[in-house]
Amino acid sequence: MELLDEKLKTYAKSNIYPFHMPGHKRRRVDEVNPYSIDITEIDGFDNLHHATDILKEAQMRAANLYQARQSYYLVNGSTCGLLAAISASCPKRSRILVARNCHKAVYHAIDLQELQADYLYPNFTSCGICGQITPRMVEEAITKEVEQKNGCPYKAVVITSPTYDGVVSDIAGIAAVAHRYGILLIVDEAHGAHFGLSRYFPKSAVTEGADLVIQSLHKTLPSYTQTALLHVCSERVPLCEIERQLDIFETSSPSYVLMAGMERCIQLLSMEKEALFESYWKKLEGFYDRVKTLKMLQVIDGECFLQEEAFAFDPSKLLIVTKSLSGKELYDCLLHKYGLQMEMVSRDYVLGMTSIMDTEEGFERLWKALHEIDTMPETNASSGKEQTDIPYGNLYEPTERVMTIARAQEQKKEQTPLLQASGCVSGDYVYLYPPGIPLVAPGERITDKILSDIESCRRLGLKVLGAADGKMCTLVF
Ligand SMILES: Cc1ncc(COP(=O)(O)O)c(C=O)c1O
Repeated sequence: MELLDEKLKTYAKSNIYPFHMPGHKRRRVDEVNPYSIDITEIDGFDNLHHATDILKEAQMRAANLYQARQSYYLVNGSTCGLLAAISASCPKRSRILVARNCHKAVYHAIDLQELQADYLYPNFTSCGICGQITPRMVEEAITKEVEQKNGCPYKAVVITSPTYDGVVSDIAGIAAVAHRYGILLIVDEAHGAHFGLSRYFPKSAVTEGADLVIQSLHKTLPSYTQTALLHVCSERVPLCEIERQLDIFETSSPSYVLMAGMERCIQLLSMEKEALFESYWKKLEGFYDRVKTLKMLQVIDGECFLQEEAFAFDPSKLLIVTKSLSGKELYDCLLHKYGLQMEMVSRDYVLGMTSIMDTEEGFERLWKALHEIDTMPETNASSGKEQTDIPYGNLYEPTERVMTIARAQEQKKEQTPLLQASGCVSGDYVYLYPPGIPLVAPGERITDKILSDIESCRRLGLKVLGAADGKMCTLVF
């Protein structure tokens, strides 16, 4: 019998370098025996759900760091923050405008609140990833409804910025449009907790006009997995409603180990952010310089995007596009030959995540490995790449929405082989994990395009959840 605990301890001693979250990179930020500080709401230690004392002050320091009106510690990740933010902003059965490339947590909030969602579809960029959501896309979606004399129906707009891949949208522009129509802007900034803290990375949505911003501290900063923040940035959402929703979605036993970890992270940044980001940037800049001469591999930077594709790009994300190997071949080679564990693999690229905790040695191992792989005969063979039907990265396209997600969940369901699912209505989510963005959501019509994308992703060895055994959940009419 293999025990998780033993396996983790053995892994911790291995020489595998983490280009993935959590952002502490398994390096100790402070020495502490977790058991010695694992308590419950005993005298003198406040209560996260009604914070009046030490936890209130800790959360105020987080708000100061990010310049938010109020910040809330989350121990159930950004997932909990998104569920609370959307539920606090949108009454039951109201309407919401959502970027289609949002994380599944956004869809779960839509489901729970029985919302009617309209989607904003990001364009695909020339390097094969989802591009930004522009203020114009938001304006067009809203005015279309207004012109059809439906009034201004949306309670909130939700977008993800930066995306999992690092694409940043024009938050100030989108906030201006949303607010002109009296709509709230919620930004899933789960991957941007390092924003707004130095001149090397984009500004945070917190100071760009969003109303609610959700950040995972654990993804890009030195903080334990599950730790996150919900920032309230305007007066448009009543704090009591946010707190009511957090009371519902957050565990009633928030871990003091996790909260102390968050506090250590916020303290570290408050005291030393200039020096930490200066040193991090030097390492990153050196890495980007060294990979410029690669031929069969390309590390994407902000200059690879047209203005309309990305408002900005987060350089902490190492997006390594491969021109001849498949993404999976590159990912496996980095792991098995060089001991470099990347965050994610897609058809044509692998994604590495970096943070202020990365070492010079880690970056050096990666750029040296990339240079070796770039000159390997396999990499330079005419094309080892499996041909697929996926038009470069184009995985999220409009499809007929037959009913809301909530209604679809109430219907009778069955398992249908993928080959026979065309034309059926989906009864569940199918998504690649990571990044956890639904390829299809409950209530959506399943098209040949969706099925061929699913099939191609499965053939490429990508993790397709919801269709792994060649079947999909469909509605029975
Ligand atoms: C864009 C995005 N939003 C939200 C989440 C959920 O974050 P958490 O894991 O902190 O709950 C994720 C997780 O990967 C994500 O990628």
